[in-house]
Amino acid sequence: MSLIYKIHHLPTSDHLLLAFLAGKFSSLRLTALTVSAAAFSSTFALESKFSSPQWITRLSRQGIHTFIAVAYTPGTLPEQQTIDAGDWIGSATLLGPKPKLDYELKESGEEVPGEDDEEGKWQMTAVFSAPEHRGRGVAKMLVEAAVDFAANEGDRKACRVRIMIHPDNAVVKRLYDGMGFVDAGRCTLSEAFVQNGDESLLPADGGKGEPEKYFNRLGLIMEKIA
Ligand SMILES: CC(C)(COP(=O)(O)OP(=O)(O)OC[C@H]1O[C@@H](n2cnc3c(N)ncnc32)[C@H](O)[C@@H]1OP(=O)(O)O)[C@@H](O)C(=O)NCCC(=O)NCCS
Repeated sequence: MSLIYKIHHLPTSDHLLLAFLAGKFSSLRLTALTVSAAAFSSTFALESKFSSPQWITRLSRQGIHTFIAVAYTPGTLPEQQTIDAGDWIGSATLLGPKPKLDYELKESGEEVPGEDDEEGKWQMTAVFSAPEHRGRGVAKMLVEAAVDFAANEGDRKACRVRIMIHPDNAVVKRLYDGMGFVDAGRCTLSEAFVQNGDESLLPADGGKGEPEKYFNRLGLIMEKIA
């Protein structure tokens, strides 16, 4: 019998539970930054320095939504499929809704986004599925859960979800192509850090000392209107 996969929206209101979940999340995130280092703008060197309170703060920041893929052994009853049980094997982070002023990247080549009262604007990042569970639809479930959440949040007519990916990441490009995302423009690494909520992880000079790395417009932007 195959494993049961379920996506949970990480709750942040119960502080004791959050402290426990932050411990599990840090371990999953550091695994992602180790086994799939090339896929992410952040690094193990940066995030392995976070203290427990920092992980808690990061998960409970305003406008941050974390989705966790959990694997349960076959036969686990639905009521036992809770976020604190099972193995955490994947995650995705959604930021938003973002004001147009913060979301729009004028030099990216993206179309001008809609007004805030008409369209919710969201950034998705840090999509990860553990290597031993890949190819079983886990990433698709994570992305679907995040897009569904964004589409149902608030009473706006439309929602726009954006992702920034490394130009050589063909697997993730195929994932998003298959889920209705379209090529929308190009971004710099500096823009990716800021839009993904990691501005504080940029070097103290904002990357000016390494312009090739931080200001080349190489990242691929994909968007989906839902
Ligand atoms: C990209 C990643 C999240 C995919 O996770 P996954 O759970 O294996 O993906 P799924 O099983 O849901 O597959 C979804 C789609 O992705 C594509 N895909 C997944 N694995 C693939 C592979 N090895 N080769 C080509 N396409 C692949 C396919 O289009 C697939 O759809 P299909 O099965 O209908 O053809 C995973 O490989 C990963 O964590 N990679 C490292 C981190 C990363 O690149 N994150 C993205 C940062 S922006």
